[in-house]
Amino acid sequence: YETPLQEQLEYLPCDEIFEIESSSLKLLKILGGGHFGDVHYGLLSINGQQLPVAVKTPKSISSERIRRMNVIEQEEEQTRQRKILRDELKIMSYLPTNLNVVKLLGAITTSKDDFCVVVEYCEYGGIDGFLRSVHKNNKFINEMLSKVDSEGYLVNQKSQIKENQQAGLQISFIGQENSSWSAHFATRREKGFVTTSDLLWFALQIARAMAFLTENKVLHRDVALRNVLLKSDFTIRVADFGLSRRAADDGQYVQQRNIAIPFRYVAPESLRSGRFSVQSEIWSFGVVLWELFTFALHQPYIDIEECESSTIDGILIYLDSGKRLPTPDCMPKSIASMMSMLWCEDPVRRPTFKCSQKTLREELFLSN
Ligand code: ADE
Repeated sequence: YETPLQEQLEYLPCDEIFEIESSSLKLLKILGGGHFGDVHYGLLSINGQQLPVAVKTPKSISSERIRRMNVIEQEEEQTRQRKILRDELKIMSYLPTNLNVVKLLGAITTSKDDFCVVVEYCEYGGIDGFLRSVHKNNKFINEMLSKVDSEGYLVNQKSQIKENQQAGLQISFIGQENSSWSAHFATRREKGFVTTSDLLWFALQIARAMAFLTENKVLHRDVALRNVLLKSDFTIRVADFGLSRRAADDGQYVQQRNIAIPFRYVAPESLRSGRFSVQSEIWSFGVVLWELFTFALHQPYIDIEECESSTIDGILIYLDSGKRLPTPDCMPKSIASMMSMLWCEDPVRRPTFKCSQKTLREELFLSN
């Protein structure tokens, strides 16, 4: 039994409590155009305060396409783009708040021209861009310290772990994982490079966001580092629910239409069947881990010679032969072996998000 999800979305309310006045919102500059809409930086006035926000608007139609459309077609396309954003809004307003999922602050849905979704602003933007920008510094420091040490760790890892253990002791005492961890990591945020612990901390937060989403029956389906945003306190937010659909009651989602899918991140069984599940989200999380520890320098599979990586079939042939993405140099062994489990061909043998969190936590605090 499977409910078509497009239909389920029709029954999800678009909660009015998020409706804001157009006059309280100022768009200041464009941050980027995504596959499913454009994102602007703006200010939202709340109680006389100006809050920095990110504002998502329906994807604009290119001037070239507009020229080929009549007025009715333009109207239809704009309605279609608004619906895509409204679906994303529905999923966001349905979800309870979670520290690692981008927070919905408001929306304008009653005016066609101002239609938008307002979310919290993440100062460092996409974590992929952030990692690419620190990579040079990291490389330089590693070369000075004669590269990665024998266990494959990055910069000064040993002293880092001691600090983490001390922080960890404090954490178990206070029992407030989030606030003490972010405070702990925030103290080193301006250092211009990242350590293995930072990467593990990012990974742990992503796993937490994913556990939260799947517990709430939301399949993100587009988990990739470019959709993970970084705040200046080194906490992360999973964003971009453009592809998300609420899972039907059996936890599966079947792709309804032939829409573009981020195939380098998608589990092989989903590429074949169009079926998405918690287990296929776990596969994608594995690809995200790989991206984290390669500093998002390259797209997955693109550098592998024996993989024809520009097509779905090419990647499926590579994966079917039992091969996987290569282990990044600086990835700790326990994480590398977990990553390979996340890519088990048999979906049910893949570890859960909870189990992945445990492995990441152990590596973060207990290894030496
Ligand atoms: N790019 C996309 N969404 C963003 C956000 N919420 N904050 C900063 N940059 C973004």
